[in-house]
Amino acid sequence: MITFHKIGPYILRKFEKHQFIFIMPTYSLNINNKNYQVEADAGTTVLWILREHLGLMGTKYGCGIAQCGSCTIHVNGNPVRACVLPIEGLANGQKIVTIEGLSTDQDHPIIKAWEKVQVPQCGYCQSGQIMQAAALLAQNNSPTREEIIQSMNGNLCRCGTYMRIMEAIQIAAGQPTSVKSDE
Ligand code: FES
Ligand code: FES
Repeated sequence: MITFHKIGPYILRKFEKHQFIFIMPTYSLNINNKNYQVEADAGTTVLWILREHLGLMGTKYGCGIAQCGSCTIHVNGNPVRACVLPIEGLANGQKIVTIEGLSTDQDHPIIKAWEKVQVPQCGYCQSGQIMQAAALLAQNNSPTREEIIQSMNGNLCRCGTYMRIMEAIQIAAGQPTSVKSDE
């Protein structure tokens, strides 16, 4: 007789005497306004789910320890490091937005400003930078230079595009840019 037992997030299926298999839990996710069912180990990070299960490759893996910001996504509008967020930490109904879903027609003010200033160099960190900047402006539509620095401080760029990032955020906020041409 086949029996099932629940152990934490797992289902243990017994189908013969001394024969058991673990069945992965299934999670319901809302990502970029689409619903997904994902079967995964409870500790799998959301970054891995996005990239390896769902093919959403815009969110990048940098450090894997919440130190660089390249994996920044939004969860209920807040910027979150997907590389250290286990899937079991997401309650049903939370809204996840990735760079792919920030602006389907590329008309988000941050994206327009990024294009205007030509911010990226190699581009690797940029989806995380844009997601962090978009969350900042959603919560504070007229940040000071100091507030921008404080908010963007944890998003690293090996190419050193920081001044262009500052300029783009100020343009997106409708402010005069404080970046001087020799910066
Ligand atoms: S990869 Fe997540 S913070 Fe660096
Ligand atoms: S643009 Fe190259 S790491 Fe930021």
